[in-house]
Amino acid sequence: MNTMELSATVQALLAGDKGLLAMDESNPTCHKRFAALGIPQTEEARRAYRELIVTTPGLGEAISGAILFDETIRQKTKDGRLFVDVLRQAGIVPGIKVDAGAKALAGFPGEKVTEGLDGLRERLEDYARAGARFAKWRAVIAIGEGIPTRACFEVNAHALARYAALCQEAGIVPIVEPEVLMDGAHDLKACARATEISLVLLFGQLRKQRVVLENLILKPNMVLSGRDCPEQADVELVARATIGVFLRAVPAAVPGIMFLSGGQPAELASARLNEMNLRFKSKMPWVVGFSFSRAIQQPALEIWAGQEENVAAAQKALYHRAKCNSAARRGEYTPALEKD
Ligand code: 13P
Repeated sequence: MNTMELSATVQALLAGDKGLLAMDESNPTCHKRFAALGIPQTEEARRAYRELIVTTPGLGEAISGAILFDETIRQKTKDGRLFVDVLRQAGIVPGIKVDAGAKALAGFPGEKVTEGLDGLRERLEDYARAGARFAKWRAVIAIGEGIPTRACFEVNAHALARYAALCQEAGIVPIVEPEVLMDGAHDLKACARATEISLVLLFGQLRKQRVVLENLILKPNMVLSGRDCPEQADVELVARATIGVFLRAVPAAVPGIMFLSGGQPAELASARLNEMNLRFKSKMPWVVGFSFSRAIQQPALEIWAGQEENVAAAQKALYHRAKCNSAARRGEYTPALEKD
């Protein structure tokens, strides 16, 4: 394992007040978002959209790393430059999603386990050759009647640790993503409980499987009220509950916690991240930042709507969200920034 290389990548990803941009939607997920806006669901539309993202002027001011999808890591701009080269020139480290998706967990209705370990060692070598310096694996935990079960936590923690160990062996920094979903009418407490158990079991597995905690980045959910819960926790309560859970469950050796957005409205995700950094910075042993997909991309995607003439306006919106989240890392985000 190349410890120096891993640690240099971690430092690059957490540097300044920057964060990660997830642009690794699988084709079905990408198509779902395109379909909602009447955008054609074609390879060329996916390529054009990803070109819009990677060529956004100034993106490197707020984004340190971009998570690509298998197709995207080999794609090029219209004028023939590989996306990975465009990113590198902008000072953005290329990364790659390596899981093969969350599949139904046999014997546990409503629960999922993430697949993709078979052949992962070889795929990581290929991705490293293609320029990826970090990789992502997402596990999902749903809350509902009688779930999550202990089995679901355990199989997902085990797979995340196996993936993380393989990444470090390959000199690739693992972005370990256990996501407790927002879907449902559960309250904040239920999310806090599930998040804490998931993290405690995950770190147990990471230790057992000799994953070096200093050389990984955690990408978790924030602790939130379920989307359909009648009582929605305010920004302060979300920040307090989230940091409380993480202080109990995440070792101080972990260098960074970069949250996913999980379907939160973009401005609210920025406000919640800001609150954590504003109120709790002195208590937190790790960098607390962002690794958003929807909360950075969605406004830009809506503006673009598949039309070439909207590219510049969409890039402006993408840049704006990235800068707002960078401000939130410093605890300097305010709603007034939305008017800039
Ligand atoms: P969201 O920020 O849209 O949740 O996406 C993050 C991600 O990478 C999901 O795997």
